[in-house]
Amino acid sequence: MRIHRIAAIPGDGIGKEVIAAGVQVLEILASQDAGFRLEFRHFDWGSEYYGRHGMMMPADGLATLKPFDAIYFGAVGAPDVPDHITLWGLRLAICQPFDQYANVRPTRILPGIQSPLRNVGPTDLDWVIVRENSEGEYAGQGGRSHRGLPEEVATEVSIFTRTGVTRIMRFAFELARSRPRKLLTVVTKSNAQRNGMVMWDEIAAEVAKEFPDVTWDKMLVDAMTVRMTMKPKSIDTVVATNLHADILSDLAAALAGSMGIAPTANLNPERKFPSMFEPIHGSAFDITGKGIANPIGTFWSGEMMLRHLGENAAADRLMRAIESVTADTALHPPDLGGKATTEQVTRAVCEVLGRP
Ligand code: IPM
Ligand code: MG
Repeated sequence: MRIHRIAAIPGDGIGKEVIAAGVQVLEILASQDAGFRLEFRHFDWGSEYYGRHGMMMPADGLATLKPFDAIYFGAVGAPDVPDHITLWGLRLAICQPFDQYANVRPTRILPGIQSPLRNVGPTDLDWVIVRENSEGEYAGQGGRSHRGLPEEVATEVSIFTRTGVTRIMRFAFELARSRPRKLLTVVTKSNAQRNGMVMWDEIAAEVAKEFPDVTWDKMLVDAMTVRMTMKPKSIDTVVATNLHADILSDLAAALAGSMGIAPTANLNPERKFPSMFEPIHGSAFDITGKGIANPIGTFWSGEMMLRHLGENAAADRLMRAIESVTADTALHPPDLGGKATTEQVTRAVCEVLGRP
């Protein structure tokens, strides 16, 4: 019996609602498979914890998480705590020290879901965006001087290291190679950003030589938004910097029908640290407590977690269950234009899983 220990961190807002739903679904899957068991431990870290303790997680939080096999994360962000505190105090405080440098964001138009693009159906959009997740524009380098004075200055420095860029390129080329089309687009902005992005392009070309079977091209990030919208079929795997991919992945989620569906894996591919799986959407305080958050992004993130843990058969079953539920428009929550509740969607997925 394989035992996987999962740290569940629901965090803020609808994070609590969707992680509760996700844990329920994953527990059903595990109970139906004699081969493995999931052991969840819940952590109440986040903005309410911050209100009580003045920090988003305890000082020894990372040491507590380290022995887990994976982290199942909801969302952070609260109306009464500045966003940079919640982000740097919890999500980035886990991603960066645990060296989860590969952020993987698949996008597909699931059955029953309508893309806002005209004449674009399920098979026309099947992408994976690989986001550099440890440096770039999110390196945290910079500072502020002369606060409040007219001459106040602030810097926000992007960091690109040869090690960091090479490893994300290798990861992206390998992922592209594992997919049927073996096609990678390297997103850049080396026309304007003439240092870091030029090195990024050079390293892409170097790494490409190791993958002669992968077809690759290069695209400026602004032009990439046009290509995603106008020629979605021409894209398969994409690699981009931390900020570029942050923006492109929101666009990707919207083009696939809703932010409520999109999943993420924050991977430490070497498995020295636990990897973290979360829906791409945020804490969504406008709908918190209403019971209408779409849990599909969290289920799909759970599917990615199962795959990372080597439970491919369970992951396949979960994905099929997700698809059979999205195919039924009566089970669409408000973000997809329907009226279904989190509970109805969750119950439907559980029911499909329960069928022989
Ligand atoms: C994401 C989110 C985060 C990010 C926010 C919550 C800071 O938008 O995971 O894409 O920018 O990384
Ligand atoms: Mg984002």
